Amino acid sequence: MVNVFIDGILLHVKRGSTVMQACTQASKEIPHFCYHDRLSIAGNCRMCLVEVEGMPKPVASCHWPVAEGMRVRTDSPTTINARKGTMELLLINHPLDCPICDQGGECALQDQSVAYGGDRSAYHEFKRAVDDKDIGSKIKTVMTRCIHCTRCIRFATEIAGVEEMGATGRGENMQVGTYVEQAIQSELSGNMIDLCPVGALTSKPYAYTARPWELVRTTSIDILDAIGTPITVDNRHGQVLRTQPQENNAINEEWMTDAARFSYDALHTNRLTSPMVKRGGELQTCSWPEAFTYAKTGMEKPTAAILGSMASAEDAFAFKSFMENNLKGAAFDCRPAGSQLDNFYTFNTPLIEFENVDAVLLVGCNPRLEAPLLNVRLRRAALKRRIPVAVLGAEVDLTYPYQHLGTTPDELESLGRSKFADTLKSAQKPAIIIAASVLTRPDGAAILNAVEKFAKKSGVVKDGWNGLNILPSTCGRITALDMAARGGDGKSSTNAILKAFNSGKTQTLIVYGEDTITAEDVDATRNTQHATLIYIGTHLTPLAQLADVILPAAAWSEKPGLYANVEGRVQQTHAAVPPPLNAKEDWKIFRALSEEMGSALPFNTLAQLRDAIARQHPAYNPQSWNRITPRMGVITKTDAAVSARPFAPVVTHYYLRNEYLRQSPTMHKCQTEAGSADLGNTPASPPPATRNKPATRKAA
Ligand code: SF4
Ligand code: FES
Repeated sequence: MVNVFIDGILLHVKRGSTVMQACTQASKEIPHFCYHDRLSIAGNCRMCLVEVEGMPKPVASCHWPVAEGMRVRTDSPTTINARKGTMELLLINHPLDCPICDQGGECALQDQSVAYGGDRSAYHEFKRAVDDKDIGSKIKTVMTRCIHCTRCIRFATEIAGVEEMGATGRGENMQVGTYVEQAIQSELSGNMIDLCPVGALTSKPYAYTARPWELVRTTSIDILDAIGTPITVDNRHGQVLRTQPQENNAINEEWMTDAARFSYDALHTNRLTSPMVKRGGELQTCSWPEAFTYAKTGMEKPTAAILGSMASAEDAFAFKSFMENNLKGAAFDCRPAGSQLDNFYTFNTPLIEFENVDAVLLVGCNPRLEAPLLNVRLRRAALKRRIPVAVLGAEVDLTYPYQHLGTTPDELESLGRSKFADTLKSAQKPAIIIAASVLTRPDGAAILNAVEKFAKKSGVVKDGWNGLNILPSTCGRITALDMAARGGDGKSSTNAILKAFNSGKTQTLIVYGEDTITAEDVDATRNTQHATLIYIGTHLTPLAQLADVILPAAAWSEKPGLYANVEGRVQQTHAAVPPPLNAKEDWKIFRALSEEMGSALPFNTLAQLRDAIARQHPAYNPQSWNRITPRMGVITKTDAAVSARPFAPVVTHYYLRNEYLRQSPTMHKCQTEAGSADLGNTPASPPPATRNKPATRKAA
């Protein structure tokens, strides 16, 4: 520790700290632009200048180390004048176009110029102008506003792992951009918008839509992957206009994925806004009682149900209760088609523990596209701490070096004798991550068994440490499994349910929040054979168009809901806006339907429903929210052998990987820029916007 004086106050500061850190410890705010505590120090904006006694000139506090007995003045005339000088220099070439800048109202330069800017400039030459760069559909650039802080460049290089942003030229001719004008290829690029202290990089989809003071902010979480990133949802007049990350060191640090940030236009595109029934081969809007009557008639026949990947605990619990209470014996499942996910479906290693993990094996897993914020931690561990990382699966670009051990699961047998097994054995905190999608393979259970055996032998599972982890695709999948939303004859699976419906064994199929199953999975000709397809969801998807009855539900931003993330941490979404027109919160649909069926579910308010959930699932008790509650996952034993079929890439179309994302025009643009928009039944062009208009389309 060293003793320093900040404005005359004695402080004990860790040796090696910067003057800025010491000032922060003393609660003295130092204005800055280029400094960011999660990036390397650039020291190029000079806004953080402070006076240090004995130094001939003010020093940049963000990179100047403290020394014993140092006396720092953060409010002396010298310091204030230095900041004013820096501000004048920064504003020389700045266009001062705040009235037409989307950063206005939340701009660091604007704020600091109020404190240190003059009301006139001594500079009478022409201002420099820089051409804007087209770097894709996510980020809008106005590069004349750039103050060359290089935060965006450092983020792209250090955190996102894509060396696509850089600076060319020197002095006044310096320009920041992608060297070759092209869409930036990163699943995290939107974070540069948050980092840019001026209006040089702003959100393209949000451009000119609102001012920050017009927005109503609601806290929520991102449910599009399994990390559960805390976010804020901003709306104006009931329309969601943007989403941004909140800071949480244990979960997302302060980053957010591009899929979560830019897909909010799906919330008002192609929505189901009224109940619908099919008459004469055409879907027509109707009242809720009418739709319930149709649904009830359908459910009098042998029925089965499938739950998708976006349901909250309330929704999954109500769905399960409805199936058990009103359709006794009917098969239902919440797992993706083919999945053998059973009792073990979460991480045993908390996300923040990846700061200490010292060897990692990825099995059939691509964390860069499945959980980009986990990949940020793995990248940091691989590059900064140089931990060994190995991949058994498809060779992919993870943005950091790894050892490729093979592409087929049968290599697991010889893995025990490999050098990497020794590496894991000698590690203190080794980890294995298996993609949940591996368990949709026919030999999925056998792979999991083989991995578990290997994990025990190589010290990944040992006394006091369990580094064996399953990475599911979304929070909703984990939550639905927590709610045990599967039942029937004990052997039900999504595949078996689909097969039974397509073969005529069951006459009615309820698809709630479709995800991995598509219109092709359901035999459309069944519609003419007295079969009934009931669709409960948010968008008029190709599968919804096949339905006989549609019950419109609320999207994640329109309802309060509890979700568990990959660590088993329960967090909640809040309703930022109401569901559109006649759509209803999902659990209320099941509650009303149960009443229609003559046996009402025993909860009538959200509080009653949450009480019922908490009684059965302690992790969902309010006292446990936001804490990690480990799941006691048990791996079901099997004697089956693993096959030699190679692991397939887990995610092939990052921006269009689920039905919600496929409804977003922005995501379609991003996927096109990424090089491939061809995803099976995905429409090549964005679906038409039908906000607030009841959709009436011909059945496929
Ligand atoms: S674009 Fe923004 S973040 Fe990047 S260097 Fe310029 S001011 Fe800094
Ligand atoms: S914040 Fe210190 S030089 Fe920019």
